Amino acid sequence: MLSTYTPTDFSLEKLVRPNILALKPYASARDEFEGEAEVFLDANENPFDTTEGFNRYPDPHQKKLKKRLSELKNIAAKHIFLGNGSDEPIDLLIRIFCTPHQDAILTLPPTYGMYEVSAQIHAVAMQEVKLNPDFTLPLADIFRAIDASTKLIFICSPNNPTGNRFAVADILSICARFQGIVVVDEAYIDFCEPNHSLVAQLKQYPNLVVLQTLSKAWGMAGLRLGIAFASAEIIALMNKVKPPYNINSFTQQAVWEILQNPTTKTAQVKTILAQRATLATALAKLPIVLQVFPSEANFLLVRFRDAEAVYNYLLQHQIIVRNRSKQPLCDNCLRITIGTDQENQALLQALGQYPQT
Ligand SMILES: Cc1ncc(COP(=O)(O)O)c(C=O)c1O
Repeated sequence: MLSTYTPTDFSLEKLVRPNILALKPYASARDEFEGEAEVFLDANENPFDTTEGFNRYPDPHQKKLKKRLSELKNIAAKHIFLGNGSDEPIDLLIRIFCTPHQDAILTLPPTYGMYEVSAQIHAVAMQEVKLNPDFTLPLADIFRAIDASTKLIFICSPNNPTGNRFAVADILSICARFQGIVVVDEAYIDFCEPNHSLVAQLKQYPNLVVLQTLSKAWGMAGLRLGIAFASAEIIALMNKVKPPYNINSFTQQAVWEILQNPTTKTAQVKTILAQRATLATALAKLPIVLQVFPSEANFLLVRFRDAEAVYNYLLQHQIIVRNRSKQPLCDNCLRITIGTDQENQALLQALGQYPQT
């Protein structure tokens, strides 16, 4: 798999599962006829509209929404795929590139758990290469682990649960040497300042896929909208495999409306970043805290003397955090999402009263 690589060596056709390459996708009624008409009797819908046109199927290509995203992200719509959360593109990419019982994905624990779950669902093997102890990318180990079965590498940056962002040069060196697909999950990218997104690098790296989501900074977790940015060819494959109407009408309309005014999101991110700094300083002063890891996301990874005990104590105080102690390199660590000022104060107050032994 490794060689002196230039992007021209990259062959998408060789990477894609043959059955997916050959697949003739389902043609929905809205695929067969896309224009304006007076009478639609082609999709077996109920003709009576009681609420907001919900009797009709949604646009399978989400054209209006992609146009808005294309303006906001400064990239043509043919490079954008929309999924039911970013978990959907994760699942689709594994389905497109990995043959069950034969191929593998490479992940970098500790990291987001859905890469592994999706791989297991599809009977795709896992190659796990632990991050360096300082949470940086173990480049030499990654290149050693890659073999002919490795089809996808998932890099989460900023990483969940560690909170750090990986050096762009390191990620691009993987894109340059690996002839499979590099998926960079930027779910938390809006919490980095300045913007370090790799979307601008897609032109140089035909094997790069960047995932983003509206569930975090944009505050739309309940609407379920994830985005994949990639070459037009990879996006076409994802469109071929997705369920025809994967983004419902309500989500398409509500997200479009929220995207008209990005100032709310910008202001909320600013507040969250200020709260993150305040919370990190306050937590670091607590005697029960051993370490607060630097974060470029909307959460802090915090090492406690006894994370399990602190987790249970917070639970009793109706405060729920995520216990990540079982993850590699995260011994005694809790992952704490940045809440409102009031919520963060409630957390600090509870921790301040933690019984000392
Ligand atoms: C790194 C990462 N990627 C993806 C997701 C899933 O996001 P979505 O809500 O878009 O499915 C999460 C959610 O926690 C995440 O932490």
